[in-house]
Amino acid sequence: MMMRLFHLMDPETGHRLAVRGSALLPAALPLSPTGLNIRVAGIDFPNPVGLAAGLDKDAEATHAWPRYGFGFCEVGTLTPRAQVGNPKPRLFRLTADRAVINRMGFNNGGQQAARERLSAARRAGRLGVVGVNIGANKDSVAGDGAIQDYVAGVRLMAPVADYLTINISSPNTPGLRKLQDASTLGDLLAAVTAARDATATRPPVFLKVAPDLEPADIDAITAAVIAHHVDALIIGNTTLSRPPLVSRDAGETGGLSGAPLRTLAAQRLRDFAIASGRAFPLIAAGGIDSVEEAWSRLRHGASLIQLYSALVYQGPWLAAHIVRRLEQRLRLDGIRSIAEIIGADL
Ligand code: FNR
Repeated sequence: MMMRLFHLMDPETGHRLAVRGSALLPAALPLSPTGLNIRVAGIDFPNPVGLAAGLDKDAEATHAWPRYGFGFCEVGTLTPRAQVGNPKPRLFRLTADRAVINRMGFNNGGQQAARERLSAARRAGRLGVVGVNIGANKDSVAGDGAIQDYVAGVRLMAPVADYLTINISSPNTPGLRKLQDASTLGDLLAAVTAARDATATRPPVFLKVAPDLEPADIDAITAAVIAHHVDALIIGNTTLSRPPLVSRDAGETGGLSGAPLRTLAAQRLRDFAIASGRAFPLIAAGGIDSVEEAWSRLRHGASLIQLYSALVYQGPWLAAHIVRRLEQRLRLDGIRSIAEIIGADL
């Protein structure tokens, strides 16, 4: 019923209302079902199901996501300066495909405002595990200032982040994905890890990559992550590729997410698990919409999973549902800890 109501609105209004409405909910403790807690990069996650970046960009509802069952949430992408993003329309529901295309372009209220919100939530004791996803302003990327933007983001957001995600995989900021190239990635990771090491809290740094990568890119990214001691890799962002789609808006420009991304995202996870020999933790995102898919990504090497698009079609309680079913599955299979199944199918 609630989802049908949201689907009567244009997608961006529905999105705004979902976040604003969630922000009104009282704080709740995360679901901590037996056997699902897991330690990744030194952080204790109550369960491995997270909210992917892009829904709560400005950290407006961090206290509410645990109520829906999420073990953690990732806010952002946040850029140093507030940014309006691309002209509307820029968000499209591909209902028949169970997919979303977006070309939002890092619309956000800037890091300082989000930092104040996160500090206030922390003071009120209302936070679960919160990752802060940072990016570069559009004009900085255009003018060679991208690395400085990431360094500024690390310095500003480290005190309020359980972990930081370096997002170099949005397809909607021209030139951003070029930072994934071997020639620049090393410089970027050296700069951000040095900036992180100089902070008082020294949160772990995660890197978020695109699923649109060639085998040589996968090897180069793996080598850079190891060389710079990046704490985890998120695979991944939306795709610029277009698997067969039937919806009217299939031809819109932007990043595709949801069900049609599932096969590609799962394949990239396996590629990185194999290339890295599991030398660092992997976090899976892309088309996860059921307990079966969550289970499969964990067995293929993910220590944590994240979802976004499936919430548009199945509602916000999907996370709680997956968490409960994961717990059941462990119990039925006689497995004591979720950690035991990670990478079991590799
Ligand atoms: C996103 N995603 C995203 N990722 C990111 O790192 N920073 C961002 O600002 C956004 N913004 C964003 C907006 C919208 C409308 C969507 C649908 C997605 C990508 C998201 O975090 C995730 O990586 C992909 O959507 C794949 O997961 P799902 O949606 O298939 O579960």
